[in-house]
Amino acid sequence: MSENLNQKYGLNPAHSEIVAAVGLAHSVGKALEMGSSNGRNALYLAQQGFEVTAVDNNPSGIQMLREIITQENLSNINAQVYDIQDANLTEDYDFIGCTVTLMFLDPSTVEPVLANMQERTRPGGYNVIVCAMDTAENPCPVRFPFTFKEGQLKEVYRGWDIIKYNEDLGTMHNGARLQFATLIAQKRTKES
Ligand SMILES: C[S@@+](CC[C@H](N)C(=O)[O-])C[C@H]1O[C@@H](n2cnc3c(N)ncnc32)[C@H](O)[C@@H]1O
Repeated sequence: MSENLNQKYGLNPAHSEIVAAVGLAHSVGKALEMGSSNGRNALYLAQQGFEVTAVDNNPSGIQMLREIITQENLSNINAQVYDIQDANLTEDYDFIGCTVTLMFLDPSTVEPVLANMQERTRPGGYNVIVCAMDTAENPCPVRFPFTFKEGQLKEVYRGWDIIKYNEDLGTMHNGARLQFATLIAQKRTKES
């Protein structure tokens, strides 16, 4: 699969933190994209050799991705309508990405969603999260249902190896400037 499918189907390139984390992972395996939309990250992961599951609660995004999967006859990616707020993942993964999605969730579900992601990550596997923040210094200009506070996401990953963590200012597609919590973390193996 040498062709760039994102480009071919008019999708944005994969999120830069997904690309960065794939660069760190020494091997491919099973990957999950939480809130995949029409699949820019999922297609990228599949093209890197992962066995990908893409989930989103918006059926139209999943339908678009399924059409690409069928068109390209891709055997290492499947797309499912799933509400991640159910926090009911039943399979284990080597790589779970959740970029710019948690902020759309009901705040009461975020803790169980993250706990479920962590539980379903294999030892040595990676989680990649990017989510809007709302801080005194940079109040979030968008009324997302959920935003992280300073240090909050990092605290949830206590006991994991934090490969990357920052709370930098970023820009949304609509030009809004806000802080994002960005995390790449690796689940420790029993020996580490
Ligand atoms: C801004 S898009 C990000 C898409 C993708 N992760 C990326 O980086 O391009 C947010 C996605 O989260 C999905 N989403 C929001 N709430 C969700 C939920 N409860 N369960 C599953 N997906 C959800 C939306 O449908 C949308 O596709």
